Amino acid sequence: GKYRVVSTKSMPGTRWIRLLTDNDCRLEICTEAKTILSVDDILALIGDRCDAVIGQLTEDWGEVLFSALKRAGGTAFSNMAVGYNNVDVEAANRNGIAVGNTPGVLTETTAELAASLTLAAARRIVEADQFMRAGLYEGWLPHLFVGNLLKGQTVGVIGAGRIGSAYARMMIEGFKMNLIYYDLYQATRLEKFVTAYGQFLKANGEQPVTWKRAATMEDVLREADVISLHPVLDKTTYHLINPERLAIMKKEAVLVNASRGPVIDEVALVEHLKANPMFRVGLDVFEDEPYMKPGLADMKNAVVVPHIASASKWTREGMATLAALNVLGKIKGYPVWGNPNQVEPFLNESATPPP
Ligand code: GLV
Ligand code: GLV
Repeated sequence: GKYRVVSTKSMPGTRWIRLLTDNDCRLEICTEAKTILSVDDILALIGDRCDAVIGQLTEDWGEVLFSALKRAGGTAFSNMAVGYNNVDVEAANRNGIAVGNTPGVLTETTAELAASLTLAAARRIVEADQFMRAGLYEGWLPHLFVGNLLKGQTVGVIGAGRIGSAYARMMIEGFKMNLIYYDLYQATRLEKFVTAYGQFLKANGEQPVTWKRAATMEDVLREADVISLHPVLDKTTYHLINPERLAIMKKEAVLVNASRGPVIDEVALVEHLKANPMFRVGLDVFEDEPYMKPGLADMKNAVVVPHIASASKWTREGMATLAALNVLGKIKGYPVWGNPNQVEPFLNESATPPP
């Protein structure tokens, strides 16, 4: 192959591999056994000559790596993730490196995981599972693992973009919850869906569902019974959930985070969980991955999973394919592939594919 492309990790499926190798690329997949590569590890992978890299959200893509990629003759980088808080896009721009991410293919999978965490927390599934396995079940009891009924309650969504809106629809359609959301942008399609679904329920003699766009995030936190966080992580959303905001949430609320860990002040969350045993959380992400803040692992009112929100076979193969298309598109000057409404392969200006 004419072009040397490096993938810092093996990724699911084979389509992404064929896409590259069928199109003049020599692909090198890093076989290093350790889970997270350091900047030095990746510098060694880039070497003297490298046209593009497919990297992971656990890697720190900043000036050091982008300038090395530029020196090696590289022009493209794709994160295998929709979130790109690990990527310094300005540094990429300065070095003329196009940057891509993998939106669209993980929307529903991620929303389904957030819904799973919501149900697991609301109905205390993990606690009950552990109780069962520990041999503690002695027979049905009126008080055994009593949790929250979702139907008719209010789901609060912070960040009603692709994933937040898909999650909201699942909870509204599946559990007939009312919606309150906070976003800088109006979620018009979501609002229309809730209105139409409410009318449908009403026509069937059922209690209609309602929606409300909150003026402030605090309104969501005060009013919602379930709150799911779906913002991007940047300076404005770091520790969005802080002690003051935890304090205004309902004592029996369920809080879910499948976005990025630092959106929650995790130390404050642990204190809040200790002080409020009926408050429950479902967490897919952590402030300091792979670690949990001290005490979190002991909290029965927390359900924790290791950043697996996008982990369905279809989605992970789709992410790998999009990542390959991103770098291939830049290398070969292809127009953008796929559905332009779903795929935004290049985030920065230097990456704009030729018309
Ligand atoms: C996963 O966390 C992603 O951003 O795709
Ligand atoms: C519970 O198992 C019931 O039958 O009410």
